[in-house]
Amino acid sequence: MTAFPFFTEDASVNAVNARIGAGCDPRLALVMARLVHHLHAFVKDVGLTQDEWGLAIDFLTCTGQMCDANRQEYILLSDVLGVSMLVDAINNRRPAPATENTVLGPFHVDGVAEMPMGSNICKDGAAEPCLFEGTVTDLQGTPLDGVRIDVWSDNEEGFYDVQQPGLQPEHNNRGVFVTGPDGRYWFQGIKPVSYPIPDDGPVGQLLGRLGRHPYRPAHMHFMIRRDGYDAIITHTFVAGDDYLTSDAVFGVKQSLVAGFDPVTGGAVKWRSRFDFVMNPVASEVPA
Ligand code: BEZ
Ligand code: FE
Repeated sequence: MTAFPFFTEDASVNAVNARIGAGCDPRLALVMARLVHHLHAFVKDVGLTQDEWGLAIDFLTCTGQMCDANRQEYILLSDVLGVSMLVDAINNRRPAPATENTVLGPFHVDGVAEMPMGSNICKDGAAEPCLFEGTVTDLQGTPLDGVRIDVWSDNEEGFYDVQQPGLQPEHNNRGVFVTGPDGRYWFQGIKPVSYPIPDDGPVGQLLGRLGRHPYRPAHMHFMIRRDGYDAIITHTFVAGDDYLTSDAVFGVKQSLVAGFDPVTGGAVKWRSRFDFVMNPVASEVPA
């Protein structure tokens, strides 16, 4: 017989966790036991009513029903609750001056073809052309070659190509570049614009009920990878954007706000410089 065969309000956590079997994977046992501990504390803390519990079940049901191959409402929920940023933060602690991470978001696409450095990633010619440039170095400032820089942004109306198949050219405002020995990168895109996260589902309704807006400040996504270094998954944010201090998914970090300077006398209207610094992967501790 287990130590807590019957459920009581006071011993509710023990009643549940005492049933975890001896053969359970230790990490699973720890995570689930702590989850039950915090969940029960939450229910007791707020004195959850039967109606509120029913509402929560309906909300989670709708969230699941909103998901398909192109829409992941649970990730959106995690994003707006700050959980995505917290998981990212505790798993990507880096020493200065390494570039900080932020949320990946749902709009990254694998398999975009590598382009020659300097290419234009905007395929519909719409919006304000912007030159993105900078360097990728290690912590000591040494330029890194062979760095794969995967970039993506929304279009002038605030939509990614995958949100408007048939309307936007495939891989519009996406590109992959590889640095040479000088560690430099440069490419032409557009000055990104702020946009709402998909808010036509339960997560959007929740934001509305909470008096929160669904907007993200304008940003360019970067995924920067090289063997031997931590991958950097991040954005650069447009300095001065109205939503910098109220990002719906909490993705903004001060160090990621980039200047976008006007350029006169040519086709390119803006220029944004940002230097990335990579952190070496933690060396294996010898056995
Ligand atoms: C994005 O920046 O693409 C994004 C991130 C989180 C939720 C929705 C969109
Ligand atoms: Fe984005």
